[in-house]
Amino acid sequence: MPMQDKIAELLAKREQLRLGGGKARIEKQHEVGKLSARERVDLLVDPDTFQETGLFAQHRAAFFGMAGKELPADGVVTGSASVDGRLIHLASQDFTVSGGSAGEVHSDKIVQMMESSMHTGTPFVFINDSGGARIQEGIDSLSGYGRVFYNNVRLSGVVPQVSLICGPCAGGAAYSPALTDFIIQAKYANMFITGPSVVKQVTGEVVTAEQLGGPGAQMAQSGVVHFIAEDDVDATQICRKLLSFLPSNNMEDPPRLQHSGEVSADESLNTIIPEEAKVPYDMREIILRVVDDQDFLEVQSEYAKNIVVGFARVLGRSIGVIGNQPAVLAGSLDINASDKSARFIRFCNAFNIPLVTFVDVPGFLPGVAQEYGGIIRHGAKMLFAYSAATVPKITIILRKAYGGAYLAMCGKDLGADRSFAWPTAEIAVMGAEGAADVVFRKEIDAAPDKAAKRKELIEEYRNTFANPYVAAGRRLVDDVIEPAETRRYLAMSLEALHTKRELRPPKKHGLIPL
Ligand code: HXC
Repeated sequence: MPMQDKIAELLAKREQLRLGGGKARIEKQHEVGKLSARERVDLLVDPDTFQETGLFAQHRAAFFGMAGKELPADGVVTGSASVDGRLIHLASQDFTVSGGSAGEVHSDKIVQMMESSMHTGTPFVFINDSGGARIQEGIDSLSGYGRVFYNNVRLSGVVPQVSLICGPCAGGAAYSPALTDFIIQAKYANMFITGPSVVKQVTGEVVTAEQLGGPGAQMAQSGVVHFIAEDDVDATQICRKLLSFLPSNNMEDPPRLQHSGEVSADESLNTIIPEEAKVPYDMREIILRVVDDQDFLEVQSEYAKNIVVGFARVLGRSIGVIGNQPAVLAGSLDINASDKSARFIRFCNAFNIPLVTFVDVPGFLPGVAQEYGGIIRHGAKMLFAYSAATVPKITIILRKAYGGAYLAMCGKDLGADRSFAWPTAEIAVMGAEGAADVVFRKEIDAAPDKAAKRKELIEEYRNTFANPYVAAGRRLVDDVIEPAETRRYLAMSLEALHTKRELRPPKKHGLIPL
């Protein structure tokens, strides 16, 4: 065959394979508000940077009518590309090809990308839209998934891994996203281990797929998902934004963006906290006033809302922010808040992102449900995560910082490199009321006017401890600062600490209380 004909044949093959399951099936995706696998890739990466590998991949299955069946690219688009000029590797499942089901070759293509991520120190992004393990391939498809899981774990802590859920993601297949660092779920998509019909058979519960695995379920109820996207376009935008805060791998620092150098005082911070200690406010208002350009990417915004976590920048440097949220459960730490923040802290530590902690915490949440649920074990995760973190740690105490929860919010003793307090800070073993009832019980009981005595002793306890100066005197607080100056203090601390290196004895791994 002449060369020209060979080239024409190649181009025709490419064109046909790039259509995946064909125009009609792509149209069907569009009709239900979904994009195709390739359209998602185009939105995710910088224009003209995608280099595909494995377009001509073919399955080797022979049972149940599979022999000779053409499955373009074996149902998954794989390759490398850049996002904001930085390399990533990706896999995007093609639902138009056998429902995006994962056979042996399909999974091997994904694994090859993961290995490339590992070898080149670049993030791995996996766009899920699949009916799960390809049923006709039996245990070969299971085995393929097993290799994906194994490599998710090998990559963990070495390169960032992000999963987009843009279609079905059910059964064991949901465990690959679960092993990655962040899950972005499109609003229309569902994730679950067993679908509604099996649930009905086994437990008798009647639920819709959305109730069971929609974003409401997997964000607000379970805390499995980190970001909810309006649609596929939004999902790819969230992914790009998220990657912008992260280094490509654990040996690098996050990219530093151009910045204005602006650190002037924000007087509004001096009055942002209500005078009355129990009146709530929104911690996010404070975070937004302190970080660059009011730009804060909140993670898991609908889960464990009593703590706020997310990424921001100060003078162009990425930071991981953790803050109690007084507007929800008075900002107390419960099981879910502990899990949410411990995981976030560990991610930041693995990827060299300094931790900035804003404290206004009355304590761990009391209650039988919390104790039975293991608040001791879960709360310990926070203490563990902060203590084990060797990135720069900066803590700012705004108002209440009581008891074990004060320590758990990266107190100086847990290794905070800088601990600042606003003049409104109250650092104590517990709140003044509770403390007075315990230590002054006899005195209160013996007084003719018990209520007046109690009030007097509460005041005495508060005046002694409910201020930052006792802690500053013990050097548990490095400085008491004017709230308006918080951004300047943060910027100077990050500058002073950015070369921090803390070495600890080698070990296989610590034993975080899981
Ligand atoms: C092979 C599959 C498939 C699968 C879908 N298809 N899932 N082929 N293996 N797992 C094929 C369908 O046969 C169909 O092919 C095409 O994909 C589109 O599927 P539809 O059913 O027409 O689409 P839709 O109505 O949108 O429903 C999507 C779906 C449904 C909800 C995902 O297909 C479904 O329930 N699939 C089975 C899901 C499942 O049970 N998976 C578990 C496998 S075990 P044609 O050629 O007719 O268009 C598993 C365990 C993994 O995943 C364990 C890892 C450890």
